[in-house]
Amino acid sequence: MMPPDMPFLTRRQGVLHVEELALPELAQAFGTPCHVYSHAALCANLRAFQAALGAHPAGARARVCYAVKANSNLAILNLFARMGAGFDIVSGGELARVLAAGGDAGKVVFSGVGKRRAEIHAALVAKILCFNVESAAELERINEIAGTLGKRAPISLRVNPDVDPQTHPYIATGLKRAKFGVPIDAALALYEHAARLPHIRVEGVDCHIGSQLLDCAPFMEALERLLVLLDALEKRGIPIRHLDLGGGLGVAYRQDEVAPEISACLAPLLDRVADRNLDLIFEPGRRLTAQAGLLLTRVEYLKPGDGVNFAIVDAAMNDLLRPALYGAWHEIVAVAPKTGTPTAIYDVVGPICESGDFLGQKRALAIEPDDLLAILSTGAYGMAMSSQYNTRPRAVEIMVRGNEAHVIRQREEAADLYALERLLPTRATPVPLAGSTPDTDKNVASHAQMC
Ligand code: LLP
Repeated sequence: MMPPDMPFLTRRQGVLHVEELALPELAQAFGTPCHVYSHAALCANLRAFQAALGAHPAGARARVCYAVKANSNLAILNLFARMGAGFDIVSGGELARVLAAGGDAGKVVFSGVGKRRAEIHAALVAKILCFNVESAAELERINEIAGTLGKRAPISLRVNPDVDPQTHPYIATGLKRAKFGVPIDAALALYEHAARLPHIRVEGVDCHIGSQLLDCAPFMEALERLLVLLDALEKRGIPIRHLDLGGGLGVAYRQDEVAPEISACLAPLLDRVADRNLDLIFEPGRRLTAQAGLLLTRVEYLKPGDGVNFAIVDAAMNDLLRPALYGAWHEIVAVAPKTGTPTAIYDVVGPICESGDFLGQKRALAIEPDDLLAILSTGAYGMAMSSQYNTRPRAVEIMVRGNEAHVIRQREEAADLYALERLLPTRATPVPLAGSTPDTDKNVASHAQMC
């Protein structure tokens, strides 16, 4: 069982290969668990998006700003930057990554509901393309910080069009009661206010309605609502230069899912704005990276249970959180099945001390201890959402390019995980807290002695 859209993954003489390399050889060389990406697939996915835009007359004015949160490895950001992509960021950390990877700040849009002062400052200094502003309070803050720098900050309001993207509730963002964006009914008044602020330059209108959309209709619904707003803004003398339609285009995680064609989704949107003087921005994340990655893991134990068999593997929810957090489905396949191994139904689980630590449930697999499994479609929101829970060093990341394997992030060592931690001194010596009064220092010291 393999999902569609992973053509870089083939079975040769029964053994799974990523591009030209056999997965058992990668496991041998780099250990497991191991995130493996295909260079060809990453290139093909971005190129497909760019080609869908290039094929449309209105596409010449459209820009792809990859949503860094999906997979923020420097090698991937660098690849996309070299292919001409811009970036959608949601933190100062992501801005730092984009710049470290050679990305162009002038192609960066900055989304997110909680931008801190230092993050706004850094983005203004870097001269990003646009802030996607998510509240009236954030607008004031950006205006104030831009003022101190003697700048005008380019902004869009992230408008919440109240469209149901029909996806998992945790990743639906465009509904009325979501924390994201400004309700569309309130947007006009806030734009009028923004246009009067001395250190704000109104550039665009932005929205992102949700993630993993398998139906394109909600994008069109959102666009229609935004165009009504655009017209109202024009009438009030607030011209809009760009429209940012966010990300959200889904992928087929399961055999029975069909991912919408990129061009089938984009063409109607481009048609609809073709006669307007507008630049467009898209912020795809998952669609560019999900199907370019897999998580390679080794079976540690098979454990028959009461009505359920467990395959206990060396990857866990800290390596791939999506199944535990969303009940998300990832195909799981044996890398090199041996003839004669009986097939049984397994819950594939990790070693973490949580019942929610599963990677897949009720999977028919012919496996033995020490066999390798590939968990598919993990290139987006896999490593990016990983943690070190249970003091599990994060997995190595490998990029396969043809017959080359490159380590793009080393496996962590246990000592890396506690390298920033410090023991308390045995005799309490007050540690001055930044901005603390001597009194507070005394409290800290006496507290340490008391314990
Ligand atoms: N733009 C904004 C403002 C976003 O919030 C997101 C994703 C994107 C673009 C990219 O969306 P995409 O094209 O990847 O669907 N952790 C979840 C997904 C969370 C998505 C959050 N926002 C998951 O594993 O399914």
